[in-house]
Amino acid sequence: MKKEDRIVTSLMLKEDEEKTLRPQRLTEYIGQKDIKEMLDIYIKAATKRSETIDHILFYGPPGLGKTTLAQIVANEMNVSIKITSGPAIERSGDLAAILTSLNPGDVLFIDEIHRLPRIVEEVLYAAMEDYVIDILIGKDAQTRSIRIDLPPFTLIGATTRFGDLSAPLRERFGVVMRLGFYNQDELSQIVRRTAGVYETVIAEKAVIELAKRSRGTPRIANRLFRRVRDFAEIIGDGKITLKVTNHALGKLGISDSGLDHTDKRYLKAIIEKFDGGPVGIESVSASIGEEPTTVEDVYEPYLLQEGFIKRTARGRVALEKSYQLLNIKYFKGLFEE
Ligand SMILES: Nc1ncnc2c1ncn2[C@@H]1O[C@H](COP(=O)(O)OP(=O)(O)OP(=O)(O)O)[C@@H](O)[C@H]1O
Ligand SMILES: [Mg+2]
Repeated sequence: MKKEDRIVTSLMLKEDEEKTLRPQRLTEYIGQKDIKEMLDIYIKAATKRSETIDHILFYGPPGLGKTTLAQIVANEMNVSIKITSGPAIERSGDLAAILTSLNPGDVLFIDEIHRLPRIVEEVLYAAMEDYVIDILIGKDAQTRSIRIDLPPFTLIGATTRFGDLSAPLRERFGVVMRLGFYNQDELSQIVRRTAGVYETVIAEKAVIELAKRSRGTPRIANRLFRRVRDFAEIIGDGKITLKVTNHALGKLGISDSGLDHTDKRYLKAIIEKFDGGPVGIESVSASIGEEPTTVEDVYEPYLLQEGFIKRTARGRVALEKSYQLLNIKYFKGLFEE
């Protein structure tokens, strides 16, 4: 396998299913209204001036559509997209190989950009700003630096951890956009669209139920849809009814509010092992055997938004809603007023 193939993948190589489920155009993309409006303007302006679009950073919890948007920007600009990720680019030479292989105007998408090694990140600065890279060649006394001109390109970075990006990198993005959770109406539209892609009949009540229990996240909506469809095909006649939906989601341990086993274990740990909090992220993560970064990026954002927990200077506190969910008697905690 050529080195370029190892560190850069094309969406074409990804699962067919993902490919058909992903909206390809901005108008097909559901929700994130503000982001869509702004991207539409930037894309039109760049096209009108025959320029490349400025570097863009998307951030927000997993599964909200960052990769999808990057692909859409490339489609709308009528250019190719190369996809790689922070941890895949180990050396500056890897980055140089990718950058020099781009055609003018192409999009380079770097997922998990907060995990780029420092040394690679520094090479990226000049590439983003001046479309050049300086690389060192030779050894010891013979070492010299050569400058390579790059074609103009658009870097699109995605991260779940905006705070972990270094300031110099952050500042080199002309456009920074935060993706938020989707509301029920938007998730309903996504479920209907997915049902259409799979040519599955689904009752409107089942659509609403799935939307309600998807944790504000399109990827989860699609995943639950596929599981419910399995149940519908095996225990029913293939049509997704409200009854099948409730049965399947019950079997999967998804609560009425969409929380899953890990969410519940996390809340239970705060309440039962740490007296409802406040408890530090390290302690609560260790007690459920998850990485603190996973808990912070994947589980907490939704629990915070929905008022199951709050963050205080002294740590996480479980709120009344969590006690109700777990059927545990609630005493107003010491740290809640
Ligand atoms: N606005 C949307 N409309 C319809 N489907 C969407 C939308 N956003 C995301 N999806 C679907 O949700 C899935 C996840 O989206 P995507 O892979 O773009 O998320 P992500 O933010 O890149 O996640 P991660 O941080 O894990 O990389 C995709 O399969 C896509 O089809
Ligand atoms: Mg992604």
